[in-house]
Amino acid sequence: MSSPRRTLLFTVLVPPLVALYFVYTLQLHVIVPELTDVKEIPGLLSRIFFLLFKPPLGSAGDDDLFQQARSGAARKPFTRHIVAVGDLHGDLPNARKVLQFSGVTDGFGNWTGNVDFFVQTGDIIDRGDDTIALFDWMDKLRGQAASTGGVMLSHLGNHEWMNAIGDWRYVYASEIKTFGTVAERQALLSNGRIGRSWAANYTTTSRLPLHPSLGAPNTPFPPPSKLQKPGTNVANSYYYDAAQPLSHSAISFVHGGLSPTYKDLTPFPSRINEISDSLLKKLQQRVQPPPHPPNAYPGLPSSATQQEKELYDSNGPLWYRGWATDPEAKVCVDVEEVLAKTGTRRMIMGHTPDFTGIVARCKGKIIIIDTGISHAYGGVLSALSIHYTLTPVGNDADQRWVEKEVVSAIYPNKQEVIVTDEREVVGEFLG
Ligand SMILES: *[C@@H]1O[C@H](CO)[C@@H](O)[C@H](O)[C@H]1NC(C)=O
Ligand SMILES: *[C@@H]1O[C@H](CO)[C@@H](O)[C@H](O)[C@H]1NC(C)=O
Repeated sequence: MSSPRRTLLFTVLVPPLVALYFVYTLQLHVIVPELTDVKEIPGLLSRIFFLLFKPPLGSAGDDDLFQQARSGAARKPFTRHIVAVGDLHGDLPNARKVLQFSGVTDGFGNWTGNVDFFVQTGDIIDRGDDTIALFDWMDKLRGQAASTGGVMLSHLGNHEWMNAIGDWRYVYASEIKTFGTVAERQALLSNGRIGRSWAANYTTTSRLPLHPSLGAPNTPFPPPSKLQKPGTNVANSYYYDAAQPLSHSAISFVHGGLSPTYKDLTPFPSRINEISDSLLKKLQQRVQPPPHPPNAYPGLPSSATQQEKELYDSNGPLWYRGWATDPEAKVCVDVEEVLAKTGTRRMIMGHTPDFTGIVARCKGKIIIIDTGISHAYGGVLSALSIHYTLTPVGNDADQRWVEKEVVSAIYPNKQEVIVTDEREVVGEFLG
């Protein structure tokens, strides 16, 4: 091989290889989702070579490989990155660490734009002093997210509701001082800045579609036209409906859990959130009762409906613990029906802590992300990361795609894949 040729080969081969080596060793697959496996490297290499050598459009150099690559480009791969974080309980410094190592925010607590959706599953308040700072930070991030095309989904946990009710058993005296007085705290949490944000920006549950063809977050499921479809067997609708293969490519989030016997699951999540909005309004608009303790537990307003009482009871979405505590055999059967009804493939919740890490049950259909992040518990810092990709394969005419979802638990010094779901789907999915 002549020397100029060797030089040419070196200049063409070495830079991409070196770049790949760094991408891989620096664990940049957290950011480049398709690079989760060494097997993917050849594919990536060929893409780099294609970019280096592609002939000008329409030139005589068009060959089969180029044609194929160009027709593939007509249907674009779709990616979506979601990060979810559980109970924060009044600890701003730990919350800052978690959002930073999971890529949601930078070292200054600003939104990075590297994540499409950030989800928090409630219980920001109680057991710590940073209530005001945390809710204000969440609102700042929500604004920053919106300005870069990102979305934040925030949820009310049972502790937010306890405070709205006047059940202040877990409120530190030092935390009340950050508001000034009891009356000032009541005002800020009802018709003041924090209470208004709860009413406007927080829900009790949400449904997050993984692909935009399913609509915006919290688009009700089932769609109204399918609600009363006679003879519908919900158990069979889970996961794959040939006519709508992506119908369950969505995830639910809630603080406690969506109990299989809770009556108001559907349409999901709108039914629960309507009940929740109505109850929150009643609580925020009543004359704030003197907090318990030392006063008597005020309870729900006398005008609360049966549905509103069930929302807040132990089988309701704020307090339910069955998905964390019931035996495997029971939950792995029950979960199918709830997934079918809610049009989802997995449910993510906080509330029941495991201080050693994120808990996944039934192959990741149930994921519990409360790891006691707050110093009040001294658990581990954690976040859940989901990389979703829909990649075109074959000819455009066949409309074949590979759908892949990689769910990982992220900790300060390690990352563990919880589940990888991959399947082929056929259809026209418009982004
Ligand atoms: C963080 O974002 C704010 C805007 O909300 C901006 O003023 C500030 O400069 C940012 N800080 C850094 C260090 O980027
Ligand atoms: C909801 O969040 C936005 C974005 O952070 C914020 O500007 C707004 O004040 C919040 N709404 C209320 C009613 O607080």
